[in-house]
Amino acid sequence: MADVRLSGVHKYYGNVHAVRGVDLVINDGEFAVLVGPSGCGKSTLLRTIAGLEDPDQGTIAIGGAVVNDLRPRERNIAMVFQNYALYPYLTVKENIAFGLRARKTPEIELRKRVNEAAEMLGIGGLLERYPRQLSGGQRQRVAIGRAIVRKAELFLFDEPLSNLDAQLRDEMRGEIKRLHHEITTTMIYVTHDQVEAMTLADRIVLLRDGKIEQQGAPLELFERPRTGFVAGFLGSPSINLIPAKLASTDNGISAVFENGGTLALPASRVSSLKGMEGRPILLGIRPQHFSRATGGALREGVMSYPATAELIQPTGTRTLTTIKIGGVDAIAELQAHDVESHGETIELAVDLNRAVLIDPASGEVIS
Ligand SMILES: Nc1ncnc2c1ncn2[C@@H]1O[C@H](COP(=O)(O)OP(=O)(O)OP(=O)(O)O)[C@@H](O)[C@H]1O
Ligand SMILES: [Mg+2]
Repeated sequence: MADVRLSGVHKYYGNVHAVRGVDLVINDGEFAVLVGPSGCGKSTLLRTIAGLEDPDQGTIAIGGAVVNDLRPRERNIAMVFQNYALYPYLTVKENIAFGLRARKTPEIELRKRVNEAAEMLGIGGLLERYPRQLSGGQRQRVAIGRAIVRKAELFLFDEPLSNLDAQLRDEMRGEIKRLHHEITTTMIYVTHDQVEAMTLADRIVLLRDGKIEQQGAPLELFERPRTGFVAGFLGSPSINLIPAKLASTDNGISAVFENGGTLALPASRVSSLKGMEGRPILLGIRPQHFSRATGGALREGVMSYPATAELIQPTGTRTLTTIKIGGVDAIAELQAHDVESHGETIELAVDLNRAVLIDPASGEVIS
């Protein structure tokens, strides 16, 4: 078990500045997920921790010791890659045992560890099979088994589930989380899938262009994003960002849209927005914060808004409904039967208590 500390880490590939000054502390036993769009430097950062890349600047410490000068095999790390090539001519058992044999582990110890790992991963009955006789998810488990028998003090995963179909991915995600509960080893997991990041992480580290944009607990990032980028990256469907201007009204402050429509902001926002009247904003409203108005009294900060359902996409449990707010397209995630047909006019309740107001120039959240 070990904590991981990165300070001032930079990595260049020629003139590509892939990692641009990363300071990061991952606590002992924590499950940290590095997430961000393609090319933002996730794999590079992970490979730097593993020792497969050398940083051009900065230090990497594992369990309190700086490891910059240690080769990958000296770092006591186990890594699972996206392309977890198993040895096709070895059985499951021998695939899992491979690293232990290479380290000349005694046979009794080796068998015990392989059986434990296989049991934990639910592949105990498959030990004599060959990889070609396994499903994608079973192969993935063998690859994870190969990593966990090593009893490393740090596990690194680089998009280990991206080759699996959606259902298997959901299943394996649950198993990896359960595995972490059981072995409580520090894990760093790379994905570009925000659902995977949200569901697995104790701590999400959201990278953008080689830098940390924001890090914290999943719900902290989701509910209190510091930038429009974070607000837009997390959540599915994405948060709606509607251009508007702030304007003061008799009893508070409103967002005035480009087509002249308005939405009154909650009284609780008035003090934080004082003096900002006239400023342009992006009003961020998550699809989940719309509901169909029932005709009863609305809570403080919830406004009614009539809209036309321009497009409806039922998912079974919910119906994603495209509407216009302030002249721009927005998605409202309604209950399955809230809207039945295209073109229907519906009265929506918009919960603005959780709206995010973004400065369009800097991209920072202002309230
Ligand atoms: N060996 C390399 N040589 C040159 N440039 C590289 C190399 N590896 C990565 N890069 C560049 O460094 C940047 C970061 O790449 P990296 O693989 O870390 O991204 P990533 O966040 O893992 O993306 P993805 O989600 O697509 O896997 C990208 O611009 C990439 O093109
Ligand atoms: Mg990558």
